[in-house]
Amino acid sequence: MSAPAFCRAGPSLALVKYWGKSIKGDNLPATPSLAVTLGGVHTETRADLAEQDSVSVDGAVQDPARSAGFFSALRETLGITAHFCAESRNSFPTSAGLASSSSGFAALAGACARAAGCDASPSDLSAIARAGSASAARAVFGGFVLLPAGGRRARPLHDPDHWPDLRIVVAVTRRGEKPVSSRAGMEETRAGSPYYFSWIKESAELLPEAMRALETRDLELLGETARRSYSLMHGAILGARPPLLYWLPGTVAVIHACAEMRGAGIGAWETIDAGPQVKVLCLAKDAPEVCSRIDGLGFGIETILCWPGPGLTWGPDFE
Ligand code: DP6
Repeated sequence: MSAPAFCRAGPSLALVKYWGKSIKGDNLPATPSLAVTLGGVHTETRADLAEQDSVSVDGAVQDPARSAGFFSALRETLGITAHFCAESRNSFPTSAGLASSSSGFAALAGACARAAGCDASPSDLSAIARAGSASAARAVFGGFVLLPAGGRRARPLHDPDHWPDLRIVVAVTRRGEKPVSSRAGMEETRAGSPYYFSWIKESAELLPEAMRALETRDLELLGETARRSYSLMHGAILGARPPLLYWLPGTVAVIHACAEMRGAGIGAWETIDAGPQVKVLCLAKDAPEVCSRIDGLGFGIETILCWPGPGLTWGPDFE
């Protein structure tokens, strides 16, 4: 008789974005990415041994093709032949641009390895999770995490308590799945956008700046670098053929609200992933004002307060 295993992961929010895959294949990123693993929101996954692989997320059975590469990498890395049945639950909207695939594949790697009785290293779990989603390689670790361009595994740079008063206000502008997944969106950008190669080049140049900002806890420098990263990424995305626009009116309203806050001396710097949600970097002392201004914008926006969180944690049960 096997026993189920339970693993929890926080989503990985990129400050310098991964967008585009290396031509070497194997789901390797074409750009370096630097991220913070979020506390305050999470994915919880229960995995058990089974006859064949299956994954459900919030009760919805997932297309097996989406996780086939992940399970192959899992078996190969751990040297096992087992198959798994996994159920995941997100405490936040799924597939809406809140990095649910990062926490999803990270928690899946942790839960399956434990269910198989394997004591895998975080670095191996990161490589396994990457085969599911490259951003998931980062979510295995807590705090501040780097995934180099072409990297098979992420590496932790700083623990969550490196910057205890950093806050991330997530502005949910729409619940529900985004129309184009990150995977499809980055391929459309590569195939159709004349700005794709400029994006790859520029994004590599942003990394040292962001690492320095993180090292010295310079929020203004980190915020401005994060703004440049998402702006360049979405510029390249808009250049796809046909153009791809993830933003909604609420998204644009939050961008302007952040600019107004900075003008009024409140440190608030936004970043946006492949969806309409906006994540705002600020300090704990300013978080109540940032939340209240964003809540007051209308557009049905809801805010969730997050902070630098832990890496994978295993529980006896999450019920
Ligand atoms: C915009 O990791 O979801 O969130 O590797 O194809 O599964 P796949 O893509 P995914 O892409 C994340 C893109 C992003 C930026 C980031 O997290 O770095």
